[in-house]
Amino acid sequence: MKILVTKRVFPEAVDFLRRDFDVDYEGTDEGLSPQVLAARVQGVQGIVSQLTDRFDASVIEALDGVKVLANVAVGYDNIDVPAATKKGIFVTNTPDVLTETTADFAWALLMAAARRIVEGHAFVHSGQWKRWTIDLLAGQDVWGKTLGIFGLGRIGQAVARRGRGFGMQVLYHDAQRAPEAVEQELGARFVSKDELLGVSDYVSLHVPLTDGTRKLIGTAELERMKPTAILVNTSRGPVVDEAALAEALQRRVIASAGLDVFEREPQVHPLLLNVDNVVLAPHIASASVETRRRMSMMAAENCAAALQGRRPANLLNATLWA
Ligand code: DGY
Repeated sequence: MKILVTKRVFPEAVDFLRRDFDVDYEGTDEGLSPQVLAARVQGVQGIVSQLTDRFDASVIEALDGVKVLANVAVGYDNIDVPAATKKGIFVTNTPDVLTETTADFAWALLMAAARRIVEGHAFVHSGQWKRWTIDLLAGQDVWGKTLGIFGLGRIGQAVARRGRGFGMQVLYHDAQRAPEAVEQELGARFVSKDELLGVSDYVSLHVPLTDGTRKLIGTAELERMKPTAILVNTSRGPVVDEAALAEALQRRVIASAGLDVFEREPQVHPLLLNVDNVVLAPHIASASVETRRRMSMMAAENCAAALQGRRPANLLNATLWA
């Protein structure tokens, strides 16, 4: 059986697949254009994909003979899962292994924005530091403040634990309320979207990208937030209306933001590149060497399992297995 790996992954994942399969490995970082992808999937049974590969309904419809699409990411908004299910293609993702790493990074963005770490680095690096002064690059406290989390899934919960560690009051909003035991363990209180926006000092986004969460944060939501509030996004770019956020940062509607994800990656709204109250990162929240290696292996294992007749550990369209 043949597997297409659409883009560079950690080499042990390819070595693992080569033990049992014929592997067509696209070892570049550019990946494949839709036209080249359409040609390379011919005669292939398994695909190891990344979040930059788009498998919409029309691409999936053309995947004849493909049995599994193994995404190297926890998010799978790049794949039309209902279309894959209809076509009988298993879809898998890489949850859990990146939870703590991603939460660490959300926290790093929060801390960097609150305590102006990037501005401080630039200040020292450019030789502007001449003396100690009482309010030089003074930021705002994190400890003891109110943290509002949108989406109390695995990563949202890991961020909540960090908030508790900083003595914060933790609020959350989600489409579904978490079980009482989870709320108690995290000390997290369920509130409405409006309350969360209105009272939180820090708002961190941990929802998947769906039709219901697209532009969850736009002008109205930003205007509801405190002028001192900081927004952190490590989920998906389109969850935030980027133009509205850029304008809100420029007008100081909110104090600052920490962003790892963008609406049209790798493009960033030009205004975001010109305001000083934002910390920007290139979609690296899960990018520790250990975690990205584990994600690569996990996708390879999911792909191999499906092709060898074993249930993949991270099957998204479980109805297909029955
Ligand atoms: C994911 O896994 O969905 C991240 O965005 C990349 O690690």
